[in-house]
Amino acid sequence: MGHQWFSKYSLTPDIHPVDNPLKLFTSLWYGAKKLEKYDPTAAALATSGKKGPSVRIVLIKEIVEEGIIFYTNYNSRKAKELLRDPRCALVLWWPITGIQIRIEGKAEKIAPELNDSYFVSRPKRSQAAAIVSKQSEILHDYNNFVREVEKVYEDIKNKDIKAPSYWGGFVVIPERIEFFYHHSFRLHKRFLYSKRSGIWQFEGMLYP
Ligand SMILES: Cc1cc2nc3c(=O)[nH]c(=O)nc-3n(C[C@H](O)[C@H](O)[C@H](O)COP(=O)(O)O)c2cc1C
Repeated sequence: MGHQWFSKYSLTPDIHPVDNPLKLFTSLWYGAKKLEKYDPTAAALATSGKKGPSVRIVLIKEIVEEGIIFYTNYNSRKAKELLRDPRCALVLWWPITGIQIRIEGKAEKIAPELNDSYFVSRPKRSQAAAIVSKQSEILHDYNNFVREVEKVYEDIKNKDIKAPSYWGGFVVIPERIEFFYHHSFRLHKRFLYSKRSGIWQFEGMLYP
């Protein structure tokens, strides 16, 4: 488990503090892609709505200089909540490497051109489902939805199409990042960073 990973690989907490925790996240993320058994790009995304918080899994598709990108339907519940209140939180847990990463920040829509380039890279059936789905609305007839997706698939299967206007990415621009490294007997190591006046600061370790 986690502590064995530290003795075997050398991405240890010794590399803290770092100038840019987003870069550290990126290198750990690529490391986890090699080492983890299950998809390490899955993250829980918490948003807040009028009635309180909500959380769901999304897949992190890219980490860029600005932040962390995931894609979704812009009419979904999460998107509506983010457009009303961009403050959000992501958490990832990688059981083999024993790492938890918590990110808090604000989400913004990414440029539409980026949506198109990611959309065309997806399987045609996924494109069709993204076009047809009214994500997060009540679905009265699942079989009908599947038929509609198949119709759209037949229509687009040999075409390169753009992403629909109601589908695209968000970038989560982080303001706080915490790295948690599993160690035996609760002796975990936690390192907290936060951005102050646009500059990353190492706040210090936290009690586990
Ligand atoms: C492993 C996994 C990955 C997922 N990835 C995404 C994703 O990248 N984007 C997305 O919109 N929904 C994704 N979902 C579905 C969401 O968890 C959620 O059901 C959906 O987006 C609707 O959420 P909302 O009603 O809060 O907007 C994923 C679900 C799972 C289980």
